[in-house]
Amino acid sequence: MNKLHLAQLPTPIEKIDYLSNKYKPSIFVKRDDLTDSVASGNKIRKLEYSVAEALSLGCDTLITNGGFQSNHCRSTAAVAAKLGLKCILILRKEPGENIKTANFLLDHMLGADIRVKEHDDFQAHKDEMMQEVYQEVLDKGGKPYIIPMGASNGIGTLGYIDAFDEILEYEKKTGIVFDTIIDAVGSGGTY
Ligand SMILES: Cc1ncc(COP(=O)(O)O)c(C=O)c1O
Repeated sequence: MNKLHLAQLPTPIEKIDYLSNKYKPSIFVKRDDLTDSVASGNKIRKLEYSVAEALSLGCDTLITNGGFQSNHCRSTAAVAAKLGLKCILILRKEPGENIKTANFLLDHMLGADIRVKEHDDFQAHKDEMMQEVYQEVLDKGGKPYIIPMGASNGIGTLGYIDAFDEILEYEKKTGIVFDTIIDAVGSGGTY
């Protein structure tokens, strides 16, 4: 499968002494916060595959969606900026969320075209909104590529098969064998 090399991989696996001593058994953390500077976190692993497919199809505009402060949207905007692609973000606004800070500020700084939608409208019409933006890009002569929320479709999820391979490699090298993996779940691709 086509893949871009965007992230700093493999990420380290570190033992957290404080939590291990407190809770037993030992607790380790895979430092996927170190995958990059601006595009860092878990989403860049998935984008290595999604954006590779976009480029292989000759697309020039990435379209995706997420929460107002979505890490996935910020990572997509960062990867687009790095590769000279356009990026359109449809963001779900919660009541009271309108201050240009954190990821929302970064999305602007990274040059994304941002469409903010009220929560209920977004929830009810997200897919149609994506299709409308897709058509809008086509009508302007662009070549759009849709990345679903969190890049958690089949192709994006390949990024976390790579992460699992890194864990197996670590086990082989160190003799430490993990029996449980815990991860945060949003759109589900990492899980
Ligand atoms: C920092 C972080 N960790 C974990 C997750 C969950 O990842 P996923 O969307 O693949 O379930 C997200 C996104 O939702 C996230 O931003």
